[in-house]
Amino acid sequence: MAKLSPSLLAADFSKLGDQAVKASKAGADYLHIDVMDGHFVPNISYGASVMKSLDKYDTAPYDVHLMIEDVDRYAGDFVTDKTEYITIHQEACTHLHRSIQHIHSFGIKAGVALNPATSIITLENVLEDLDLILVMSVNPGFGGQKFIPIALDKVEELASIRSEYNLKFNIEVDGGVDLTNAKDLVDAGCDILVAGSAVFGAEDIRKRIKDFKKLL
Ligand code: DX5
Ligand code: ZN
Repeated sequence: MAKLSPSLLAADFSKLGDQAVKASKAGADYLHIDVMDGHFVPNISYGASVMKSLDKYDTAPYDVHLMIEDVDRYAGDFVTDKTEYITIHQEACTHLHRSIQHIHSFGIKAGVALNPATSIITLENVLEDLDLILVMSVNPGFGGQKFIPIALDKVEELASIRSEYNLKFNIEVDGGVDLTNAKDLVDAGCDILVAGSAVFGAEDIRKRIKDFKKLL
């Protein structure tokens, strides 16, 4: 069964704790933490201290998506008992292999994200080191954007590479995911779906998560 990782970027920040707990109780498998630095992407979201303010609540584990430059400097700030994945961008890393090892050195699973214009081939030399590949289905920086269909082809290609070479990475898709495309993504081989506005923009967050989970 595929997993659901609701993005807190679309939550009401004035009641972040409540919304994180509500989503977790409703069945969210992870909480997707979108970190934006205003350099790698044209927006600023929140940093490690905001994420860590959720540590005291009973929530799903964190799935951290770093849309930032200088990942080696900041990745360690996002390590907590609840951190499952830290994902960095291929486009933001000069020494990608080193940055993956750096995340692993904390005992945390490492992911690499690919922007819509970045080809899978760029990961050829690190595939064996990865726990997660995050396929961006929008250009990162903002929630609520339209799904870019090339992502579906990428998921299929990654799933076929994974089985051909007997690799272990999970495949995650992020951006414009909703109830209309979730099933196709899962059928293509996606293991973790990120959904921001489709979850936290819903009138009834709990019901929306249950509806997602039925499709997965
Ligand atoms: C985009 C972020 C996404 C975003 C998803 O830069 O990485 O995680 O919050 O939001 P929706 O689901 O609204 O496209
Ligand atoms: Zn994200």
